[in-house]
Amino acid sequence: MVSLKQLFSSSLGRKYLMGASGLALVIFIILHLLGNLTLYAGHGEPMNTYSARLHSLGMGLIIAEVGLLLTFVIHIIAAIQVTMTSKNARPIGYASTETKGGPTKNTMTSRNMIVTGLVLLLFLIVHLKQMRFGPNVADGYTASLEGVMVHDIYRVVVETFQDIKWVIFYSASMFFLGFHFRHGFWSAFQSLGAINPRWSKPIYAMGLIIALLLTAGFFFMPIYIYATQGGAS
Ligand code: HEM
Repeated sequence: MVSLKQLFSSSLGRKYLMGASGLALVIFIILHLLGNLTLYAGHGEPMNTYSARLHSLGMGLIIAEVGLLLTFVIHIIAAIQVTMTSKNARPIGYASTETKGGPTKNTMTSRNMIVTGLVLLLFLIVHLKQMRFGPNVADGYTASLEGVMVHDIYRVVVETFQDIKWVIFYSASMFFLGFHFRHGFWSAFQSLGAINPRWSKPIYAMGLIIALLLTAGFFFMPIYIYATQGGAS
């Protein structure tokens, strides 16, 4: 079996790692968005129930979180290495992205993957500090679900989005998420060698649709909480 070290040491292996980890992260983010839709329902009970169920997995959740962290780390390292390799191979860069044969995927988005990725990394660090490692039960953030005391994660979210600067920070970051995904999705399939000319357009279109849905789905959450002062009445 090929080891991670072997994959990282070849340029094809690094592209494969970047594509495979990117697709795994797409799946996580879709699931995260679906879970977060509980924000729109009621006054916190649905979101707290969802979070309590997740945390009741105990060791299972910790293993999943470590797996997720490793996936992020692999994605970031492989992305940096792939970018460095192509920069070294072509130090001057292309003057233009136009081609005679029609639109190329080497658009502004493709060249800016590393920039949008870095913005998302900053977003993720702030986000995890605020919500995953933010105020917890020991800080008095508790709610009662059918008589059982659980972490009031809904209060953490609502308090964060009472502050307009966090609403802007989150919602603006989601545009970077959209741009990163739009190109990343197509690029991941290409890195995995799963694109032939017939599938190129449908896969690019699918990436665009997923990117739009994810951006819109996350974008309105902070605004909704801010505008309704913590959920619908
Ligand atoms: C408006 C947008 C978002 C909201 C309201 C939100 C909300 C949350 C909440 C409440 C948690 C804590 C869950 C818990 O402990 O039960 C969380 C965790 C997390 N979020 Fe988000 N999230 C948003 C966007 C994102 C995006 C775009 C990403 C990825 C780029 C992301 C990545 C994560 C990760 C990795 C965790 C930790 C998961 C875990 O350890 O179980 N989130 N988010």
